[in-house]
Amino acid sequence: MSLHHYQEDFMGIDRFFQEAVYHDQTDLNAASTVEVELYEHTCMYPTFAEIARQSGHPEVAAMFDAIAREEGEHAELVQKLYGELEVTDTPETQEAKRLVATIEAEMEKVASDPRGLRRALETALEVESIEATKTYPAFAALARQQGREDVALVFDEITRSETRHMNWVQRALDTLVPA
Ligand SMILES: [Fe+2]
Ligand SMILES: [Fe+2]
Repeated sequence: MSLHHYQEDFMGIDRFFQEAVYHDQTDLNAASTVEVELYEHTCMYPTFAEIARQSGHPEVAAMFDAIAREEGEHAELVQKLYGELEVTDTPETQEAKRLVATIEAEMEKVASDPRGLRRALETALEVESIEATKTYPAFAALARQQGREDVALVFDEITRSETRHMNWVQRALDTLVPA
């Protein structure tokens, strides 16, 4: 996965991006979803909230906190269907977590540069857009094809939630951090 929508790299914030991996088996898509949603819940969005808080944008921080909470709920919705899926981090998730830790260690530097919050918002927009328009609709369609209507309904619900996230982040980018 590479990000091409935005030219500017700032301390690798765009490399926080992590997405669920497509499989041709619904169960594997579910496990990948839990892995990524937990990463977003515990790692990526709490750090984005911290960047926003320390950059003096408490309303953006509150939005990232709310998104972080809901990503945890997405993981739970899927886990509930399967009864505690066994989830291990892929090397990509491990690398993303390592990058987040480096940003945490340099939080003051990141938050004092306006590019920090802007890149966090742009990365969040990319993540949410792909999840809302590609990944989860595809997972729902495959689950339906494979006769797992229960799983498909959960992916439908997650898709709606990611669409809301996408719209919140877009609004924050448009109004709170003018270019
Ligand atoms: Fe999510
Ligand atoms: Fe989301």
